[in-house]
Amino acid sequence: MSVVGARPNFMKVAPILLQLSKYPDEFESVLVHTGQHYDEAMSEVFFRDLGIKKPDFNLSVGSGSHAFQTGEIMKRFEEVCMSHRPDLVLVAGDVNSTVACSLTATKLLIRVGHIESGLRSFDRTMPEEINRIVTDRISDLLFTTEASGNCNLQDEGVPEEKIFFVGNTMIDSLVRCSEVIARTGPGARVIGAGNGPFSLATIHRPSNVDDPDQLQKVLDILRSASRYSPVLFVTHPRTRERMRSLETQMECVEVEGDLQDLKEGVVYLLPPLSYLDFLYLMARATAVLTDSGGIQEETTFLGVPCLTLRENTERPITVQIGSNELVGLDKERILTALDRIFQGSWKNPKVPPLWDGKAAERIVEVLSTIKC
Ligand code: UD1
Repeated sequence: MSVVGARPNFMKVAPILLQLSKYPDEFESVLVHTGQHYDEAMSEVFFRDLGIKKPDFNLSVGSGSHAFQTGEIMKRFEEVCMSHRPDLVLVAGDVNSTVACSLTATKLLIRVGHIESGLRSFDRTMPEEINRIVTDRISDLLFTTEASGNCNLQDEGVPEEKIFFVGNTMIDSLVRCSEVIARTGPGARVIGAGNGPFSLATIHRPSNVDDPDQLQKVLDILRSASRYSPVLFVTHPRTRERMRSLETQMECVEVEGDLQDLKEGVVYLLPPLSYLDFLYLMARATAVLTDSGGIQEETTFLGVPCLTLRENTERPITVQIGSNELVGLDKERILTALDRIFQGSWKNPKVPPLWDGKAAERIVEVLSTIKC
């Protein structure tokens, strides 16, 4: 039984569902959507882009506080587990749905597999860090994406035989969908963006957008970054909501239709994009400014310079050998980094080990050895 809940889950689980579907005699694969993300832009479009089957169960939990969301998912998921008795529950990443479903399953003595296990920012003010720690602590199969994950789990006393270094299923989706884009084009409303250099920005972490002073700093940074090239700011609903309540509104251009004739010095505001549209833009950006976890990895794979507006990362490989650099909200550091990027003197990134599009194959190989 695979669980998806929020946007970053969909690309991590899609390749596993695809792989499981190749062995119908061996696996009965059931999909549960918790409904943590529920609207067209944050959920449905990803099902289409990634070719994910219609969920067998939708828990329709919706938005709410952390405790509400987690508790409500647990109550509803328990009913599904009781009626369906899966042999294994697969959860991914670090969102509230991940911890809620792993807790529920473990208490019903159902084994749990955690995809993207072992990542640690060592910053317990991040809700995702708590979700990672708890999920890893109670999971039975821990699938890691980079060596730091194995080290963290070993340091926390997880027995070696539970840990499987399999690579990154999110990169599996990226590889597959890049081929789709190459064949058919992005199907995007954003075609015109290909005409000149641009930077791509996504910012939504509570630490960067919930406090108006921090958000103001972020917007000021994006405004300065737009002097190098137009900035396409793809906004998460959380960010958009916080921006509306800011006293001083940033001057920016709302993009509704196609992007054409981008101008330097302008920050363009875009709604949440589909997976294919975002991937298309990310692969063509000169620089990416983000506080997302997954985008640090995707830019590393694509070799696109990435500035992470945080002081830490749970994905250190992207800084050590990838194209990522941590810059916090330090404007000087960011402008110096942009100088290097736009002068073409950014570091030469490498693709991390096992980020080869075959992680889901390795996971399903492990699953086929489990006795039910
Ligand atoms: C969640 C994850 C975060 C991930 C992010 C990606 C947790 C703790 N956080 O944060 O790790 O990076 O998703 O998107 O699980 N909203 C909509 N439409 C939706 C879903 C949400 O408009 O389909 C709005 C909600 O009304 C809410 C806000 O977005 O105000 C936040 O949604 P929520 O699921 O609580 O957390 P995220 O901030 O998205």
